[in-house]
Amino acid sequence: MLTWHQRVKQPPLRAFALVTLVAVALTAFFSPSLSAVADGDPIEHGRFLFSYQGCIDCHGPNAEGDVGPKISALDVSLDEFMTQLRTPKDQMDPYPPELLNDADAADLYTFLQSLP
Ligand code: HEC
Repeated sequence: MLTWHQRVKQPPLRAFALVTLVAVALTAFFSPSLSAVADGDPIEHGRFLFSYQGCIDCHGPNAEGDVGPKISALDVSLDEFMTQLRTPKDQMDPYPPELLNDADAADLYTFLQSLP
């Protein structure tokens, strides 16, 4: 059995280790939005959830409206927003707390309010 160090000294594995290291470093460097999410920026987290939760599919990439209405710079309170998510008025799929908790919904709201 070769030790890890011995294996890494073998050229193909060494190249692999190097490529992996460079890839990880580059990912960390070029992912400001990911680090913003980690830092707890509500707008960046809301932006992530907007696509992750599929809102983007119906409301458009900038929440400007598509199948669903425009929801950027909403003219509704956070309470009304929550009501729409939990018990939509009409065609929209409901988002129960197991799918989208209150804190995440609040970040989504903050993100949407930050849009023009
Ligand atoms: C399957 C398509 C679809 C998806 C996915 C979807 N929506 Fe909707 N949304 C609609 C439609 C259609 C309406 C119009 C009212 C209704 O059908 O309930 C709406 C209405 C709304 C409204 C009310 C707008 C107003 O002017 O009162 C808000 C807020 C909203 N959506 C937010 C969201 C958020 C946030 C997400 C993601 C977590 C989301 N929607 C995902 C289709 C969708």
